Amino acid sequence: MTSGTVYTAGWSLDDIPWDRFDRSKASPGMIAAVKAAALVEFNAPAYVSYLARVFEGAERSLADFKRWGDEEAQHGLALGRWAEMADPAWSFEQAFARFQTGYKPPHFTSEETVSVRGSRRGEMIARCVVESGTSSYYSAIREAADEPVLKEIAGRIAADEFRHYRLFFDTLHAQDEPELPFWRRLLVALGRINESDDDELAYAYYCATVGPDEEAANPYRRSEYARQSFACSGRIYRRHHIRKLVQMVAKAVGADPQGRITSWAAAFMWRLFQFRAGSTLASAPNG
Ligand SMILES: [Fe+2]
Ligand SMILES: [Fe+2]
Repeated sequence: MTSGTVYTAGWSLDDIPWDRFDRSKASPGMIAAVKAAALVEFNAPAYVSYLARVFEGAERSLADFKRWGDEEAQHGLALGRWAEMADPAWSFEQAFARFQTGYKPPHFTSEETVSVRGSRRGEMIARCVVESGTSSYYSAIREAADEPVLKEIAGRIAADEFRHYRLFFDTLHAQDEPELPFWRRLLVALGRINESDDDELAYAYYCATVGPDEEAANPYRRSEYARQSFACSGRIYRRHHIRKLVQMVAKAVGADPQGRITSWAAAFMWRLFQFRAGSTLASAPNG
């Protein structure tokens, strides 16, 4: 947190100062980013069902995951409400219904009880990667947003996402499964990072920004909407957010977050972001 405000867990929508909303400070790019994020967040309960299969019998973890899913869903509600205030023609409910219908990864619908990452430890590493991404992303939104209500929402969500990382990190190390070799941990993390090109973010961006009446003229194409989604979020990140993201992933796989290889990886990742998001990225004065 850069502003010194510490947001504790357990907040509700009533804690958001909605009456301070200032539409003139909500930019189109930020509105699109928030709409897409709202859809992904609100879909978390589907992931809780999957985790409940993978962690069957681990009652304490299941209770933690249920609370996690509730917090993610609340993130979706807060972001969705903000997006509807910023764009009154947009319906969160309608966009989410389309997203939920069209986005059903195989592990959500199967009865498989083994994680798609191969083990519970692998699953927790993948969750740490996701929370590294979300905590960095909402920190970036908090810093980039001019609109005061969004700034507060993003600050509260970012604080939750750092706590989620801690939850999955602690659950990872509480497993009585044998430790995975380093190469295997790295592979799981890289595999999860690579999935940011899959349908979840691209299709959320599509449902968020292309209305149902525009679908025929603008059919969904993963590569195109993955590119647009990446360009949209890429404009929000700054170099220090990417560095933090890479450091958190390094810690999750058991590498040194302050080590030289992590620094190289962070520099490489930042270059990749700049390249993929196009020339619209601002340079990072505080990198
Ligand atoms: Fe979240
Ligand atoms: Fe989270």
